[in-house]
Amino acid sequence: MALRLDYTNMLAPAVAHGVPADAWQSAAREFTRVHEAAAAQRTSGALGFLDLPGDAALRDQSVRFAESRSGSYDDIVVLGIGGSALGPVALRTALRPPYWNLLDAKRRRGSPRLHVLDNVDPRTMAALLVQVDLARTLFIITSKSGGTAETMAQYLIVHERLGAAGLDRTRHLVFVTDPRQGALRPIAEREGIPALDIPSNVGGRFSVLSPVGMLPAALIGIDVAALLKGAAAMGDRCATSDLSRNPAGAYALLQWLADTHAGAHIHVMMPYADALRDFASWFVQLWAESLGKILPAGGSVGPTPLAALGATDQHSQVQLFMEGPPDKTVTFIGVADAQGDIEIPNAYPDVRDLSYLGGKSLGALLDVERRATAGALAKRGRPNMTMTLDRVDAAHVGELIMLLEIATIYAGALYGVDPLNQPGVELGKQFTYAMMGRPGSEAARREWDTLPKPDPRHII
Ligand code: PA5
Repeated sequence: MALRLDYTNMLAPAVAHGVPADAWQSAAREFTRVHEAAAAQRTSGALGFLDLPGDAALRDQSVRFAESRSGSYDDIVVLGIGGSALGPVALRTALRPPYWNLLDAKRRRGSPRLHVLDNVDPRTMAALLVQVDLARTLFIITSKSGGTAETMAQYLIVHERLGAAGLDRTRHLVFVTDPRQGALRPIAEREGIPALDIPSNVGGRFSVLSPVGMLPAALIGIDVAALLKGAAAMGDRCATSDLSRNPAGAYALLQWLADTHAGAHIHVMMPYADALRDFASWFVQLWAESLGKILPAGGSVGPTPLAALGATDQHSQVQLFMEGPPDKTVTFIGVADAQGDIEIPNAYPDVRDLSYLGGKSLGALLDVERRATAGALAKRGRPNMTMTLDRVDAAHVGELIMLLEIATIYAGALYGVDPLNQPGVELGKQFTYAMMGRPGSEAARREWDTLPKPDPRHII
């Protein structure tokens, strides 16, 4: 069965701090406007991510590359950051359980381990480089712009190490980048390094269904065809302007209304499945970097996304969600079929605190805890909604990805911002270039030099 979205607990007056009834009543009209704006953006070619599930040629770039290198590697290392890293990490965690990496090569049936280096912390990189056998490692250099400082620095290190080890770089490097722009394309041509495309109209945080996610996924044996099929099915579901049948529309509109009409400007994503832990982090980037913006007429908007994990965070953040300020929505992700469920033995029938657990399963306990938490939040007037997947498999993960990507476009229109850009990160980059001495950054250096310097009176 396809993904279900239950938003009963988002609405006031049943849930005291929920979306006011009159706002929800006029929502369908509001949504028609937003859906039409998104349709116009699609027609203009700006929403390339919507075409990824149907782009068989692009999918085949990843599948064919993975097939041609089958059995060649024990370790795949993605070098990338932001949208170039969070998608591959989410796919790995969702569709390759963490214990996969601990199994020996034989039991892994030849599937390589996937590592994602998304930071320039030298300790992490050094630790990985001593751990892997370079002769059995493929490095995927993922950068849409082909110029991101962190990724380029990592690349230069790996490039040098492969050369020093006397290895053929064309067998140990592959680029995933813009088809035309950036520093990586000409290097690929000059050095004969294979390069896969991120379509020009697909930005970093919307790129997981391009080779950014599909290449590492295919290399570790994830069913990319099923993933794209699930995404396509959700794309079709969300092609309607009928809000009652469009889950991305309902999600976006309810979150926006909760923020703007009920003061719930913190949007928590809380899956009840370890496999979706990193999916919540992927969502955080998508929602934050797309929606946190200065409005064209001035003033700032943007909900603050937060990742949580059930049941773990019931013993951590849920206290805040229940009794802290009523400024949050919580979106639960439930999984109907707890694959590999474990029965809890009834070892102590005479011990009241243990005996009620006996004969139930861990999966049932997890699911009951999710329902109990949702009910408890509703009882306290805290708005929440639940997405339910039959199971965590490629098709359902594809559905989830597409739902939230489309919801982000709708939310951009609702907030009145461009969800596809990220001008706010630019100044920090310019200052970094200036301090690292990149040519052309002299103006940024001068601006940096005018900033207040650490004041000894304010340092303790
Ligand atoms: O979503 C985005 O556009 C960003 O988070 C980018 O993915 C990130 O800055 C990395 O950029 P690039 O892929 O160009 O190296």
